[in-house]
Amino acid sequence: MRYLNHPSVFRPLAYRGTRFRRLEEVAWVRRSRRAAAHGDYWNFAVTRRDSGALVGGIGLEVRDWANGRGWTGYWIARPFWHRGYGAEAASAVCDVAFRRLKLQRIDAEVFDFNQRSMRLLRRLGFRREGRRRHVLRRGGRWYDEIAFGLLASEFRPWPVPIRD
Ligand SMILES: CC(C)(COP(=O)(O)OP(=O)(O)OC[C@H]1O[C@@H](n2cnc3c(N)ncnc32)[C@H](O)[C@@H]1OP(=O)(O)O)[C@@H](O)C(=O)NCCC(=O)NCCS
Repeated sequence: MRYLNHPSVFRPLAYRGTRFRRLEEVAWVRRSRRAAAHGDYWNFAVTRRDSGALVGGIGLEVRDWANGRGWTGYWIARPFWHRGYGAEAASAVCDVAFRRLKLQRIDAEVFDFNQRSMRLLRRLGFRREGRRRHVLRRGGRWYDEIAFGLLASEFRPWPVPIRD
């Protein structure tokens, strides 16, 4: 919660402008556990290999098994930005989605002010597919959402070994 509630993390992440509260987080963890047990929505902790310390989170949700369509969203705690953790986590999730789950495509949605996340997606091969207008109202103005998509054939894994 401390990491999520940093303004530079929750502003580009959430449709809401207010901080996450403890009860909501507890409920979210419970929902995540149930969903993972069900087998179509996983919320992973991103941790350091050496210490196991939490540095962020990333989700993979399969919204359409019949057509092999998944969706991802992610965040890295502010003190750990710019070390490749975001790209490595997103790459690992795409790798699982395509190689293990045999999905055909992965969706990601980004607010139009979030250039950092768009660069990350492009590095993995995601392409911009469209713009949803006025999905977010903040500080008296509207923001759009950019839809990105990655096909299995376009995936460029981040060059870091992924352990099976
Ligand atoms: C977007 C986000 C996940 C990126 O996380 P990150 O761990 O900093 O991502 P990376 O380190 O992989 O890449 C960030 C930059 O660091 C650079 N970088 C990567 N490894 C590096 C290293 N070892 N040394 C220096 N720079 C490095 C990358 O090239 C990249 O540069 P760029 O932004 O100029 O393209 C993070 O900023 C975040 O959590 N933002 C808030 C939440 C959010 O926007 N979520 C996505 C919603 S769609």
